[in-house]
Amino acid sequence: MRDAAPQTIYLKDYTPFGYLIDSVHLTFKLHPTTTRVLSRIAFRPNPDATDKTFFLHGEQLTLISAKIDGAEITPEVTDEGLIANVPDAPFVWEAEVEISPSTNTALEGLYMSNGMYCTQCEAEGFRKITYYPDRPDVMATFDVRIEGDEKVLLSNGNPGASGDGFAEWSDPWKKPAYLFALVAGDLVNHPGQFTTKSGKDVELNIWVRPGDDGKCAFGMQALKDSMKWDEDVYGREYDLDIFNIVAVDDFNMGAMENKGLNIFNSSCVLASQATSTDADFERIEAIIAHEYFHNWTGNRITCRDWFQLCLKEGLTVFRDAQFTADMRSEPVKRIDDVIALRARQFPEDQGPLSHPVRPEEFQEINNFYTATVYEKGAEVIGMLKTLVGDEAYYQALDLYFERHDGDAATIEDWIKVFEDCTGRDLTQFKRWYSQSGTPKVSVREEWQAESGTFTLHFSQSTAPTPGQDVKDPRVIPIALGLLNPNGDETHPTRIFEMMEAEQSLTFTGLGARPIPSILRGFSAPVMLEQDIDNARRAFLLAHDTDEFNRWEAGRDLARDSLINMILKDAAPDPAYLDGLKRVVTDTSLDAAYRALMLAQPTETELAGALAALGETPDPDKIYAATKALSKAKAGILADDLHALYSDNQPQGPYTPDAEGSGKRALANMAMALLGRLGQLDPAKAQFATADNMTQQIAALATLVREGAGTEAVQDFYDQWKSDRLVIDKWFGLQAGMADPDQAAEVAKALTQHADFDMKNPNRFRATLGAFAGNHAGFHHATGAGYKLLADWLIKLDPVNPQTTARMCTAFQTWKRYDSQRQSLIRAELERILATEGLSRDTHEMVTRILG
Ligand code: PHE
Ligand code: ZN
Repeated sequence: MRDAAPQTIYLKDYTPFGYLIDSVHLTFKLHPTTTRVLSRIAFRPNPDATDKTFFLHGEQLTLISAKIDGAEITPEVTDEGLIANVPDAPFVWEAEVEISPSTNTALEGLYMSNGMYCTQCEAEGFRKITYYPDRPDVMATFDVRIEGDEKVLLSNGNPGASGDGFAEWSDPWKKPAYLFALVAGDLVNHPGQFTTKSGKDVELNIWVRPGDDGKCAFGMQALKDSMKWDEDVYGREYDLDIFNIVAVDDFNMGAMENKGLNIFNSSCVLASQATSTDADFERIEAIIAHEYFHNWTGNRITCRDWFQLCLKEGLTVFRDAQFTADMRSEPVKRIDDVIALRARQFPEDQGPLSHPVRPEEFQEINNFYTATVYEKGAEVIGMLKTLVGDEAYYQALDLYFERHDGDAATIEDWIKVFEDCTGRDLTQFKRWYSQSGTPKVSVREEWQAESGTFTLHFSQSTAPTPGQDVKDPRVIPIALGLLNPNGDETHPTRIFEMMEAEQSLTFTGLGARPIPSILRGFSAPVMLEQDIDNARRAFLLAHDTDEFNRWEAGRDLARDSLINMILKDAAPDPAYLDGLKRVVTDTSLDAAYRALMLAQPTETELAGALAALGETPDPDKIYAATKALSKAKAGILADDLHALYSDNQPQGPYTPDAEGSGKRALANMAMALLGRLGQLDPAKAQFATADNMTQQIAALATLVREGAGTEAVQDFYDQWKSDRLVIDKWFGLQAGMADPDQAAEVAKALTQHADFDMKNPNRFRATLGAFAGNHAGFHHATGAGYKLLADWLIKLDPVNPQTTARMCTAFQTWKRYDSQRQSLIRAELERILATEGLSRDTHEMVTRILG
């Protein structure tokens, strides 16, 4: 157990820091175990602050010396920082500290990855580099000198003097410490160039370890596309002479938007045809865009405090989704995002970790980089745009950039620009930021044949969530249209603004009872409850003009069929199978869309759907039903699969664009279904001859799924053993696809493999994260899965608390399951909690999950 009760930080307690900073000078004398950091910081009293305590954050630092205005002082030092007496006038703070990057396995602050120095300062890592007011509302310009033998020495901003063993950088833009970065290593660069719309030349570089230089071209193009897109769509130009991206192998998250020096998990930037899947290419393009877009939404305008995290993350996710929709296919991107939202955000919002998009309290901020802050935060912006319309949205954004450039802003500031721009009162809309939980919207239809009047009666409610028993109605933009019984659209999409708990919408003068298509494009992150039968869904699947809702109708049919198979031992629903066959063989539809149609809800999603119906999910039954439905799909499509497979082989050289990847997705689905029919020749041939990772790994997956993969798994390893990112896939595929009865054993054996390294977050996640996603394996009735994960979380916690805490979310849905599984999980959670010296990160997560 922890000795001190962890401290909770509240939004309501915000007060500004007592001092402002005019400039920061840092000198780094690099050494793996004894790096010296010298700081010289010009402070002056903040006229807007009443509390004048001079407290500087600092953790795991050895203070060598401290001076104020040149005079040596002895501050009061604790584990969390120091306090000094300072003059009530401008003064210069100087300090020298010593740190040890090579033993820093938490990957926060200055650390080493494969012999290269790098930093991660968001959210509170800068305090592990030197003493500083490490909070986002303290902004300053930074001048940095790096002394070291490495070939490449990088920091934020523009380059200054450099020479043998040193380099200087200065960043003219004020920034909070969380955007500081430093990289030093024997790196090579993939260069590029961009001319901004006002004619400024910008030098671009992607820095990687020697040997990875062949995997940079795609990322470089994505960067240029992002720079151009932000100019075209948001009028935002880049503001330094140079933009550097660095790839590191050991990184807790995806990537980081440090000013002018973005640092990326190598898995989120390195791409090549042979080693990356189509999904990897799309993700890399989106993450490069995301980090680049932060330059305006995050860096030029940052957050006042960490409660406002969604101000930069929700908006930047929304912007990168717009970018991907423009670069690829809008409906496909929307469907992918909704699948991800339901898979990651809904369980969070409906379980013990539920929190508002803008949380009001936390113990460890690292635990709030969540799907709710990011993805629901982006949904809230999408709703705002829907409500005010495109034109007003971009006007409000212009005002936001104009009014708040250089600020550390709040959600109140953000809402205010929309109010000022549109004259709308957004008080009620703001509940989306303060109320947690997923609203449920129910619709009842009323048809009066004599008068031709059709009424939709809507009601909304949100179940209580931790700390919030009562919910007030929200503003919900519901996009909807009407079709007539012939399948023609009579009323195109309009937005119904629901504001009350119950509200109706009436259409008059109709000749026949219409078929409504509701929540088109998933216009709000809610659960829609509609009393419709499968005939109606099949109708929408065939006729809806809204591509999202068309897909949704098919998905609903699949889900209902699976639920009936699970609960009532029913056979697969023929209405679903017929509708599916029609859509999948309709060559007028694009391949990516047909591939999405052919996919089915995951086992985890089904467990959530059952729980929402008040049923206890049985992982074995879910597993069996999922398998049976895919066999039934293979059966009904038996005559079409060969053609689907061969007609969708992209012609010509490999391109990871929407068209090529759509075809590969559809062909690979056909290959997988042929596998379900025992026809493995296509998979075997494709595995042997594929010239790209998308096809190679899909073939491998098919062979493994059919229990015929042993040899291919070994061949794959032999082929790729020197490529870390591909070997991550190798770990993930085996842990994720193992037969439920053997999964814990398989995963355990993988953790004993020579290439398993718990210090590398990618490898840890590839193995144990994928295992936790193997629903029936992880939830095996013996509890072996729970024990395996808990064992590894306990081992990882002292090494890397952030990644440990994040992976505790595998247990967040535990109350869905039967009492036996619940007690097995509870015992593991309590075992974790009882671990001596448990980190604040993991302690907070496990405590909240236990509820
Ligand atoms: N700010 C980063 C992003 O979303 C995420 C991140 C958070 C990375 C914390 C590292 C640490 O783009
Ligand atoms: Zn971000």
